[in-house]
Parts: sequence; C-alpha cells; structure tokens
Amino acid sequence: MPSLTELRPDHIMQVGMGFWASKVLLSAVEMGVFTELAQGPRQFESLASRLGLHPRSSHDFLDALVALGLLKRSQDLYSNTYETDLFLDRRKPTYIGGVLEMANARLYGFWNHLTEALRTGRAQNEAKEDGSPSPFVALYADPARLKGFLAAMSGISRPANCAIARQFPWAPYKTYADVGTAQGDLAVQIALVNPHLTGIGFDLPEVGPVFEEYSQASGVADRVRFQPGDFFRHPLPRVDVITMGHILHDWNLAEKKMIIGKAFQALNPGGAYIVYDALIDDDRSKNVFGLLMSLNMLIETPGGFDYSGADCIGWMKEAGFRDARVEHLAGPDYMVIGLK
Ligand SMILES: C[S@@+](CC[C@H](N)C(=O)[O-])C[C@H]1O[C@@H](n2cnc3c(N)ncnc32)[C@H](O)[C@@H]1O
Repeated sequence: MPSLTELRPDHIMQVGMGFWASKVLLSAVEMGVFTELAQGPRQFESLASRLGLHPRSSHDFLDALVALGLLKRSQDLYSNTYETDLFLDRRKPTYIGGVLEMANARLYGFWNHLTEALRTGRAQNEAKEDGSPSPFVALYADPARLKGFLAAMSGISRPANCAIARQFPWAPYKTYADVGTAQGDLAVQIALVNPHLTGIGFDLPEVGPVFEEYSQASGVADRVRFQPGDFFRHPLPRVDVITMGHILHDWNLAEKKMIIGKAFQALNPGGAYIVYDALIDDDRSKNVFGLLMSLNMLIETPGGFDYSGADCIGWMKEAGFRDARVEHLAGPDYMVIGLK
C-alpha cells in the first residue's frame, strides 16, 4: 500500500471533470473550427470573428483546444494538428466528426440521465416515452435525425470497415451481405478493395435512399445493391459472407441469439459470419470503451448490451457454427468470425 503522502486525486479529478474537455471538442466540431482551419492557419482575430465567438469566450476556448492537443498555436496563428486536419475537416472523405455531431446533439443530453437509467434499466433517448421495442422507430421518425445517425455510424465504423475489407481472407468468396448496413460504408469498403465480390446492404426500408446515394458517390453501385428488410421479420440474404457491425449490441440476449441463428440459416455452406463491435475484454476490467459503450446501449436501447469475444464465440457455437475466432480490427473494435 502506498503512503498517504504519495496518493494523488489527479486521476479522480480528470475522470470526474472529463465532460469539460469533451464538450469543448463537441462544440468545436459543431462550430466547424477544424473545417475552417483546414483551409489554412488563421490569426486569432480573424478566426474568432469567422467562428462568431464572443470576446469573453474566444481566447479561452481556442487556447483550451491548444492545451487539449487539438489545435496548434504559433504566436497569434492557430492551425489544426495533423489528426484534427485529417479527421475533423468536414470537407474531407476521412471526416469522422459525424459521430461527434451526434454525440453533441443527442447523447450529451441523454447521458445527463444516466443515474435514472442505472436505477430503472430504462432507455433515456427519444424512445424514453414511446415504449417501442426498437430504438430505431423514434430515431428514424425525423429524416434529418435519420441521415445524421447513419452518417455518424460511418464515422465511428470506418477504421474497422477498412480493416475488414483488407484483413479478412475474401478470395474464396463471391457474395456478401452487410446486415444493418446504415449508410453502407462497410459494404462499400469491401467492394472497393475486392473487385471480384458483389454485395448487398440490408437494412430497414427508410435507410434505402441514404445507402443508394452513398454507394453511387463511392463508385461501387454496379456491385453493391440495397435490400430492404427487417431482421426480426424477414430471412437474411443467402450469401457466402454475412457481416454485422454494431448490430448485436443493440439487442437483448434472446434477440442477439435469434439474429445469430438467422445468419447461420442464411449462409451458404462453407460461409463465414463476421460480427464486430467494441468488444469488452473477457475479464471485463480493461476495455473502458467497450464497457462505456455498453452503458451507452443502456441509454439508447430497451435491452441492448455489449459483450466479450468469449460470449460471442459461445453464442455462435450454440447456433451451429463449427469454429469461431476473434481478431482485432482498429481502435476498440474487434471482429468475431464464425465459420459454417
Ligand atoms: C448501430 S447501427 C450500425 C450501422 C453499421 N452496421 C455500422 O456499424 O456502422 C444499427 C443498424 O441496424 C439497422 N437496423 C435496426 N433494426 C433493424 C431491423 N429490424 N432490421 C434491419 N436492420 C435494422 C439500423 O437501421 C442501423 O442501420
């Protein structure tokens, strides 16, 4: 045990006041700070005026971004870091800020009700009042929110999507379906890297136009098509490989097992099932992001939760898959591959 004089409250304070830093970044994304600076470094006065910052806030806000390592400053000149320039400039295809825009517009407020969720087990998002078993009904009722959510999913998923497109041994397979595809970034990334494959993006009908716009803009619309469907009511497409990114964590255990069973039924013999999520480590003590994502599912869904690789392998074997393994993708995301 360390002596009392060696103990510091720094870590407690950093975690406890972490929302200050988080909200500064979320507001900076909302106000387009990084998109503005992607056009070139700017003097303080010009930057503050282009962003519409009040004189009382402008120095502290911009310098807080410098101190947080999100901007650089030399004399009076502010500029992006390499990372904020690549990932937070809205005009670049590498932009991942959609998820931060959604965090700012939706999650930041909903998480204020975490204690209530912890006590009641009930979702705290738009669905709080409607009692629907699907969190997507209320979310998709507003077309702007639908589009924002789908673009946000591409932002959070792109590094894992690119990893799956390159890392998985696609050569023996011909067809694939990305189930719960959203904007279709995984279906698109797989097609871009593997010209021998044709793919399907399967999702609720409301998602179709957003998927089609994205696959056309990505230049793969001749090999990737949208199939409307509901995985609770319809069979999944019969293909060689089924992928599911950030799907299983939305649902309770019985629903998870039902979806895994449907994937097993739909796959051609010798096919593969790729599930990916921010897996919790098997010991449930290290992967902070996976554990917090699971609490986010408490806020966002009636029964969803995140899970470990061992949990998922167990469910896949129960559904009939002959073999299953875990591979790291990118950041907190891991895939679990089940072989039929
Ligand atoms: C959390 S998002 C994941 C999106 C994408 N796979 C990714 O990882 O970025 C969940 C997706 O499942 C879709 N979805 C929800 N319920 C569904 C259902 N019953 N049938 C088909 N898709 C559904 C949603 O529309 C949404 O696109």
